[in-house]
Amino acid sequence: MAGTRGEFSSRLGFILAASGSAVGLGNIWGFPTQAASNGGAAFLLMYLLMAFLLAYPALMAELIIGRHAKANIVSALRQVSNTTFSRFVASLSGFAGIITASLILAFYAIVAGWMIAFAAGPVMGAAGQEEVAGWLTGFGHGRNLAFMLIFMLMTCLIISGGVQQGIEKWSTRLMPLLIIILLALIAYVMTLPGAMQGIKVYLLPDFGRSFNFQLIVNALGQAFFSLSLGVGTMLVYGSYVSKTENIASLGRAITLIDIGIAVLAGLLIIPAMYVAQHNGVEIFDAAGKLIGEDTLIFTVLPALFSTMGDTGIVVGVAFFVLMTIAALTSSISLLESPVSYVTEVHGLSRRAAAFLVSAVITLISAIIVFNFGDLFVFVITLTTRYAQPLLGLMLCLFAGWIWHRNHVLEEIKAGFESAEQSFFWRIWPAYIRYVCPVVILTVFGQKVLG
Ligand code: PHE
Repeated sequence: MAGTRGEFSSRLGFILAASGSAVGLGNIWGFPTQAASNGGAAFLLMYLLMAFLLAYPALMAELIIGRHAKANIVSALRQVSNTTFSRFVASLSGFAGIITASLILAFYAIVAGWMIAFAAGPVMGAAGQEEVAGWLTGFGHGRNLAFMLIFMLMTCLIISGGVQQGIEKWSTRLMPLLIIILLALIAYVMTLPGAMQGIKVYLLPDFGRSFNFQLIVNALGQAFFSLSLGVGTMLVYGSYVSKTENIASLGRAITLIDIGIAVLAGLLIIPAMYVAQHNGVEIFDAAGKLIGEDTLIFTVLPALFSTMGDTGIVVGVAFFVLMTIAALTSSISLLESPVSYVTEVHGLSRRAAAFLVSAVITLISAIIVFNFGDLFVFVITLTTRYAQPLLGLMLCLFAGWIWHRNHVLEEIKAGFESAEQSFFWRIWPAYIRYVCPVVILTVFGQKVLG
């Protein structure tokens, strides 16, 4: 082990860092666009169910294992294992988690780079630099590579600062800013004609659609991605939490913030689409469905901003800065997962580990940039659709079956003395043992088969 491990300085510091990991492009982009193409409120409803009933228990498994072991995902899973076989499975799952985190970061950095470029684009346009603006907002290898590099460098610099001086310091600066920008944008969009229609679409559920199986699958995947599960990020953040904290209530706070911000982001994006429609922008595709995914973010919204004159420049910049902040507080947690492993197991200094791991991930990211058509969607599908749910399942199995139940209780009781009599302890162990694995396997099976 290299030196003493870091620890978050306060409860709030941890909550902001962990919710910073959770709140990312998944909330502000993924959730609203999925809601837009899956029946608005019907998706919202299913997402809430999945997040509270499945993702929260799985998040708790990660946090508790992490705080107990005070180590990276590989060492932590090995610590809670007591046979040679389970230790082998622990190493395998831990490595798979680290590799998945690295691959997620490799595509995440490309997308986050676009956000920076789109924030700079309108400013350049307003300054009369039309050509530069066109390069920034047009798709190309050069632009993709340059902004991925900028974003990776920012991520690496924060992580090399350590737990308190890097992760905590930047999360406590950026998260309040994110919430302020988000609320200001919502307040502004609400005043525009067309917004109310968007609110109706978003908040009035079409119950017939909540029970569609594909919608459940999408909502579960979205909830797991959004809570940063399965790849060791929450585990390692949990490992920096003091034993005097009530871990169950911390987990609840993170889940509530994550869901709250996703719901708020929907309140921004979906009304904004209807404002765009009011301003003459096309918001339905040829099949009559609301436009989603990248076309929504990079075509519909910029088209909306450009109908708003000078205000549109400010709103557009604010929106893409919001996206960049959300991405950055998530990407640092993605980098921390492999970095914590390299420092703790291979004894490298944090700075050296941060630069080494970032270099490897940047290389992978560059390979994706130059083979975009073949690799981009492939890596996203591989990591978020397959690896994350499977690894989430493994973490539930470790907390529910491999780690001794009395030890689990002991860990929760540190900082939460009455844990044994709590509602949490009455429900959670069975959840993590039976409900989560069965549901994840069912959903996963359907995905693979269908
Ligand atoms: N939760 C992040 C988001 O919603 C993504 C993420 C996944 C971060 C896995 C860390 C680990 O965008």
